[in-house]
Amino acid sequence: MPAWPASAPLPTTWPKQPEFLRTDAAGLVPGHSWFSPVRSPNSARSRPSSARRLRAAARNADRIRAAPATDTARSGFSVLGEHCWQHDGMDVVGLERIEAAAELLGPVIRRTPVVASRVLSERTGHEVWLKCENLQRTGSFKPRGAYNRIANLPLDVRAGGVVAASAGNHAQGVAWAASSLGIESTVFMPVGASLPKLAATKAYGARVRQVGDTVDEALDAAVEFAQRTGATLIHPFDHPDIVAGQATVGLEILAQLPRVGTVVVPTGGGGLLAGIAVALHHLAPDVRVLGVQAAAAAAWPDSLAAGRPVRAASMSTMADGIAVGLPGAVPFRHVAEHVPTMLTVGEDALSRALLLCLERAKLIVEPAGAAAVAALMSCGPEELGLRGPVCAILSGGNIDPLLLTRLIGHGLSSAGRYLAVQVTISDRPGRLSGLLGVVGKTGASVVDVAHSRIGAWLALDEVEVSLTLETRGPEHRDDVLATLADAGYVVRVQD
Ligand SMILES: Cc1ncc(COP(=O)(O)O)c(C=O)c1O
Repeated sequence: MPAWPASAPLPTTWPKQPEFLRTDAAGLVPGHSWFSPVRSPNSARSRPSSARRLRAAARNADRIRAAPATDTARSGFSVLGEHCWQHDGMDVVGLERIEAAAELLGPVIRRTPVVASRVLSERTGHEVWLKCENLQRTGSFKPRGAYNRIANLPLDVRAGGVVAASAGNHAQGVAWAASSLGIESTVFMPVGASLPKLAATKAYGARVRQVGDTVDEALDAAVEFAQRTGATLIHPFDHPDIVAGQATVGLEILAQLPRVGTVVVPTGGGGLLAGIAVALHHLAPDVRVLGVQAAAAAAWPDSLAAGRPVRAASMSTMADGIAVGLPGAVPFRHVAEHVPTMLTVGEDALSRALLLCLERAKLIVEPAGAAAVAALMSCGPEELGLRGPVCAILSGGNIDPLLLTRLIGHGLSSAGRYLAVQVTISDRPGRLSGLLGVVGKTGASVVDVAHSRIGAWLALDEVEVSLTLETRGPEHRDDVLATLADAGYVVRVQD
């Protein structure tokens, strides 16, 4: 059941056109000079070729890079036992650093759209917008931080190449950013990494090495590679340049939704959350920033309570992008200062959120990318404490089609839209059609029927019928079960 106030009034001023499309004559969002102009996608002359754009971006990167001041590679950060970073006071991310990142990223990163979500607005009673980082280059927000980090490396350090460890989005972000800047990249991925992510990382130009069963093992190998070859390790979240790059999502939101009251952010190591929180703290301090973690892999609530990063007690969630055992030290200090609330969401909420994005917004997101939407759907109004308008970040859309198929089934089932049951009937002519007749009267449609005579629990004159039914929601599902029980059937519901 929805935990939001059903009677809450809907916003009366519903913008017809998203703010991100509202630009001045030069194609710029008024008052926000750090964005590249919005041009007509049909205007070939206004769009330089991607090669030219990347060359220009690389020149821009060289121009903006202010070594040695931003030479974070040599600023005292060092790899420790658990691959976190040791800090020397240069790890505070301020507005200047974020604006420099925005200038650097402007020509190369997509300014992703924000789209209104009527269904979430109705549910929460606030205007809700989705920030579509699932439509970002490589399918997630990750290239923002990766490009900013790599572009800030001094030229001699760049020559040594970069190395990363990841099962997915960071791998693609680093591979894309390194290739864009003409730098060699090596990415260590666990042996079980999904084939589409592996293929994409290779296609973006990285040398991929598959090592170990987990990201942690891949990270060990990446650290060893960095120490042996002199390549620079690009950490997925624990570095000021990564945080500053991710912070540009916050700048875009402010430009696209100047009245925004709450921003909800999927959170793993905390780079995205910290960046957005710092940007908004400087430019719009009244905006409420909420982090969201998967309840089954939530290191942040205990860490914030303890006042230091604390390892998560469990790590089993479908949202692999936000399943991070230990919050980053750089994100931690910013999140502890600027983020009052960390929410957690269950697995059912994640799959229902993914389904909602797919079905209602026509947007493909991965489970981690749907966490903010899951929080809006499953957390109570007091916990959320929303101030409108609300912006939920869809942080990524890289999902293996096979997993997507399974998750759609999971989401439909947890939304009461799928009902899988087993019914034992006697093995006589007409009994199966009798059962289907009762089902037919309920209005549920039959997706699948399997009829089995084999099973130690079945008497010789019994058969088991497995039915998969499509129902209209939880109430209809309960009606179907009650109708079958009234007709004398003993039904086992499959989870
Ligand atoms: C889709 C997606 N969302 C959110 C996150 C969390 O980002 P961070 O580790 O910066 O908190 C990740 C990290 O990989 C991700 O892939």
